[in-house]
Amino acid sequence: MDIIKVENLTTKFDDRTIHNNISFEINEGEIFGILGGSGSGKTTIIRQIVMLQKIQKGKILFLNKDISNLSIEESQQLKNDFSYLFQFGALFSFLNVLENIEVMLKEYTNLPYDLIEKIALTNLKLVGLKEEHAFLYPSELSGGMKKRVALARAIAIEPKVLFLDEPTSGLDPSSAEQFNELILNLKKMLNLTIIVITHDLTTIKHTLDRFIILKDTKIAFEGNIQMALDKNDSFLEDFLTIKKDKNGHKS
Ligand SMILES: Nc1ncnc2c1ncn2[C@@H]1O[C@H](COP(=O)(O)OP(=O)(O)OP(=O)(O)O)[C@@H](O)[C@H]1O
Ligand SMILES: [Mg+2]
Repeated sequence: MDIIKVENLTTKFDDRTIHNNISFEINEGEIFGILGGSGSGKTTIIRQIVMLQKIQKGKILFLNKDISNLSIEESQQLKNDFSYLFQFGALFSFLNVLENIEVMLKEYTNLPYDLIEKIALTNLKLVGLKEEHAFLYPSELSGGMKKRVALARAIAIEPKVLFLDEPTSGLDPSSAEQFNELILNLKKMLNLTIIVITHDLTTIKHTLDRFIILKDTKIAFEGNIQMALDKNDSFLEDFLTIKKDKNGHKS
C-alpha cells in the first residue's frame, strides 16, 4: 500500500520550473530513494511533503489524505508521524549527546523525564553508540558519531516516516557504508518507511527498495537497481556509478 503519493506536482521558483508535473508513490515500509543531480529539486520535494514548503500545483497524499487540506489536529498528527534528518542538520552544540536525543521527546511528548531518558538511551544504543558516549558534547564526536546522534534523535519519537536528506554527506567512504548498513538494520527493527536523498550511490543503491531519478524537471527513472541494470542505459550506468567487469557483469 502507498503511504505517500505525489500527484502531478509542478513547482516553479520565479520563472524557473523545478518539477514539471511529476507523480510517484512511496510504499509503506520501503526504503525509497529520491536521486538526481544538485539543484534537481530533491530537497524541495521533501520540504513539500513535510509541509515546510507550499505545494504550488498538484497534490501530495499521506495515507490517502491530501496534506494541503488537513485540519489543525490532522496536521499536528502528521508532524508526529514524520521525522527528518535535514541536509545540513546539526546537533545543538551546548547539549550533550543524551540531551540532543531527548530534545524531540521533550518537544513532542508529555512523557515523564525518567521515561524520556530511558527512551533516549535505548535509541542511543539502537544507532550503535554506547552509554559512555551519552555525556559527550558534539565537539567531542567524530562526523559519523554526530550523524548517529542525529539519527537517534529523529527515530526517538517513533515516526511512521523518516526522511534522510544526504545522511552520509561529509563522511568518509567507510563511515558512509556503515551508516547505510545502520539504515538498513533500522528498517528491519522498526516499523518504518524511509525516504532518503543521496548523492553517494556506491553502496546505498543496493539498499534502496525503489528510487526515482529527477532530471530536467521530470522523473528520468523509477524502479530498483536491477531494473536500472537491465535497461542498458548509459545515463543510468553513469549516474548510478555502475561498473562492468571484463565478463560484462555489472554491479
Ligand atoms: N524557496 C526557494 N526559493 C527560490 N528558489 C528555490 C527555493 N528552494 C529551492 N530553490 C531552488 O530550486 C532548485 C532545487 O533546489 P533543491 O534544494 O530542491 O535541490 P536539490 O536537488 O536538493 O539539490 P542538492 O543536491 O544540491 O541539495 C535550486 O535551484 C534551488 O536554488
Ligand atoms: Mg538538497
